Amino acid sequence: MRISNRAKRLQWSPIRKLIPYANKAKEEGVRVYHLNIGQPDIKTPPEVLLALKEFETEVISYGPSQGIPELRKAVARYMGHYDIEVDPDEVVITNGGSEALLFAFSIVADDGDEIIVPEPFYTNYNGISQILGIKLVPVTTKAEEGFHLPPIEEFEKVFTDKTRAVLLCTPNNPTGTILTEEEMRMVVDFIKKKGIFLITDEVYREFTFDGKKHTSALKFKDAWDQVIVVDSVSKRFSMCGARIGNIIAKNREIVTEAIKFAQARLCPPTVEQHLAVAAYNLPMEYFDGVREEYERRRNVVWNRLKGQKGIVLEKPEGAFYTVVKLPVDDSEAFAKWLLTDYRNRGETLMVAPAGGFYATEGKGTDEVRIAYVLEVEKLERAMDMLLDALQKYPGKSCD
Ligand SMILES: Cc1ncc(COP(=O)(O)O)c(C=O)c1O
Repeated sequence: MRISNRAKRLQWSPIRKLIPYANKAKEEGVRVYHLNIGQPDIKTPPEVLLALKEFETEVISYGPSQGIPELRKAVARYMGHYDIEVDPDEVVITNGGSEALLFAFSIVADDGDEIIVPEPFYTNYNGISQILGIKLVPVTTKAEEGFHLPPIEEFEKVFTDKTRAVLLCTPNNPTGTILTEEEMRMVVDFIKKKGIFLITDEVYREFTFDGKKHTSALKFKDAWDQVIVVDSVSKRFSMCGARIGNIIAKNREIVTEAIKFAQARLCPPTVEQHLAVAAYNLPMEYFDGVREEYERRRNVVWNRLKGQKGIVLEKPEGAFYTVVKLPVDDSEAFAKWLLTDYRNRGETLMVAPAGGFYATEGKGTDEVRIAYVLEVEKLERAMDMLLDALQKYPGKSCD
């Protein structure tokens, strides 16, 4: 018997890998502030919970592989609010954005093919590409440039005859950066010139601060055939456990192929799709309050950490994450030490070491990702603890 190379090469998620240490701390009665995972504490909208309560059936049956028509219609209607015309037949409902990514990668690339992606990036892009044997080719973005895209020459430099797509995430996890319309145009022109696909992960579309606006790849009609949008209800409506996402593609061949993948796993969860319909039927004003709350939290993290000795961070523009460079030798050792050794009035915090958010070996080893998913008071306490812990950490301190 042997375990496959596919299994062996698959990484542990840096977001979850230190959880056993967090659990141990909790067993000892320590309170852990979780800034490691994008699990918002925003309440799921009551309309969604009501739909759950009122859902009646005698058999929780399979649904269509592409997703129930009501939900595909609701997604299309929702995209209309952004002046993006989508036909329900251009939507494939998936098991979360995660499966949408799996389908999108699978459709555009074969074993050994390459996808160009700005780094740091959402760490599960690594996991999914490792499963599929696809190589993620990074174009590095820098904290001092607000993690915005480098000139297109950097994409040209890494383009090969195996490049099948560019993958963008905006607003970005883990950097919080919102790509400008000009940046999006630059990449759209690149993928058109090269005849490859553009996959855009837009799961944080509404979470934009300081009046900034998100630009969907579907705004570029001249590239419609080459664009695949990945989306999810998880963060948008604070219903991560529902596991509902979707792919939108104007190119019907992509949709047809996605349905084949969808058939191979039968269907997305039936009950949760009905809850997602209730979510998408909420008025767009629903997002105003949520956006304001995340902006308040962003301000807490920014105000507490900016200008602190040895700490480098840029003001995040959206989503609810930021990558912070810390004065530590090894951010994974630091994150573990927080859980095993650091105690502050019986409390500690958990952050995600940023190494796993890069494809380039050795990058991010002095950075952590902070998810500001806790309410302001808790976040202030967590930031105080982080600054205090940096003073006490034996690896390297601010001094
Ligand atoms: C950028 C990004 N894309 C996709 C996902 C996947 O989300 P889900 O599978 O819960 O929809 C996440 C989750 O954190 C994410 O941050």
